[in-house]
Amino acid sequence: MNNYDIKDPTLAEEGKLRIDWAGREMPVIKLIKQRFAKEKPLKGVRISACLHVTTETANLALALKEGGADLVLCASNPLSTQDDVTAALVDYGIPVNAIKGEDNKTYYQHIITALEHKPQLTMDDGADLVSTLHKEYVELCHNVIGGTEETTTGVIRLRNMARKGKLSYPIIAVNDAQTKYLFDNRYGTGQSTIDGITRATNILWAGRKVVVCGYGWCGKGIAKRAQGLGAQAIITEVNPISALEAAMDGYRVMPLSDACRIGEVFITATGDASVIDKAHMLQMKDGAIIANSGHFNVEINIPALESLAKSKRRVRPFVDEYTLSDGRHIYLLGEGRLINLAAAEGHPASVMDMSFTNQALCVEYLVKMKGKLKPDVYPVPEEIDKEVGRLKLASMNITIDSLTEEQKEYLQSWESGT
Ligand SMILES: NC(=O)c1ccc[n+]([C@@H]2O[C@H](COP(=O)([O-])OP(=O)(O)OC[C@H]3O[C@@H](n4cnc5c(N)ncnc54)[C@H](O)[C@@H]3O)[C@@H](O)[C@H]2O)c1
Repeated sequence: MNNYDIKDPTLAEEGKLRIDWAGREMPVIKLIKQRFAKEKPLKGVRISACLHVTTETANLALALKEGGADLVLCASNPLSTQDDVTAALVDYGIPVNAIKGEDNKTYYQHIITALEHKPQLTMDDGADLVSTLHKEYVELCHNVIGGTEETTTGVIRLRNMARKGKLSYPIIAVNDAQTKYLFDNRYGTGQSTIDGITRATNILWAGRKVVVCGYGWCGKGIAKRAQGLGAQAIITEVNPISALEAAMDGYRVMPLSDACRIGEVFITATGDASVIDKAHMLQMKDGAIIANSGHFNVEINIPALESLAKSKRRVRPFVDEYTLSDGRHIYLLGEGRLINLAAAEGHPASVMDMSFTNQALCVEYLVKMKGKLKPDVYPVPEEIDKEVGRLKLASMNITIDSLTEEQKEYLQSWESGT
């Protein structure tokens, strides 16, 4: 095996221990792995996967390999890779092209190496692999049976491609499964974003004024966890319904042009660009901390911050101090990249158990449906979403009620009222 590029192969044992540790929290993917080992539903299928290379992803990758897949992996973000995990996976016979902190050129070179695998299936998180395939390797598209997409931003990009007639094969929006966004985006991003900022800064959250930009699934989780630690969360939004939800969930809601003067910590989770812009930075308090948990490092206008700064220095790992010409300091965390993966370990394994079971089952589904789906973005089949929920509940030893015959009939009728 020579089609890999990682930081340090000697980290393999450390990586294996951590992969096993995460695996203890992933009982559902373990079940799927056992079934895949018997049935080999992905036998010989070439998969190129562009995902955050973490211990949880490793458990998914091992399940796919057990199912017979011929898999290569690259990173979906230059700063989210865990180098011990890459070493362990290579040792397990899965080629990985990813190094934490790689520059943009290397990041895309690694995507290209993954594409040179001539995938029959693509797995993406943010749609960089799929867009590179369609822009630079379009001749390889005819090999591809289908793909999956893990995150909100990727799904938005793919829907734009489909609308413009540019998407050449079917892709399942794993992000949009209820067993994904309701748990991963909300509880996973909520907890791990606070974890990343805490690890980077060691700040006390209690009493802190925290501005959360975006009250979607990630923003809801982040605000709730910050509030739970005693912070005063302020929400900024552009969608009136989400803003209303935030207000009725008990948060202060205001435009960022007001919040920028009050906030002490700012966290973006919008999937949008230049949310925190120059005008806001000019109004921030001395010592303001800014971090992003959205997919790309465009939510904070970093070039604007660079242009305002008269000097910049790294004061702790993942903390860059920008000194503005009036002497104020602004602290940018994790170079504006998703802070939960840059400065912490990403989502806890227990929640990725559901997201990645969706991934594994959707990959299996795409192989079964080969040639039957036209190029478009598809939802996760409801049976898969429900099955993931059922298996996760069972793994948590939670049982629930089921409908009686009378209730089933009632819920399908219209005749009876008061
Ligand atoms: N860090 C992670 O591990 C992680 C995990 C899941 C998703 N994500 C990413 O986080 C981002 C948000 O995902 P989501 O699932 O919460 O999306 P979402 O669509 O549920 O929510 C985004 C919210 O941001 C709001 N918004 C858009 N532009 C805004 C602006 N300029 N100011 C204020 N609010 C604005 C929207 O109205 C929406 O309510 C995406 O980029 C997604 O890919 C990151």
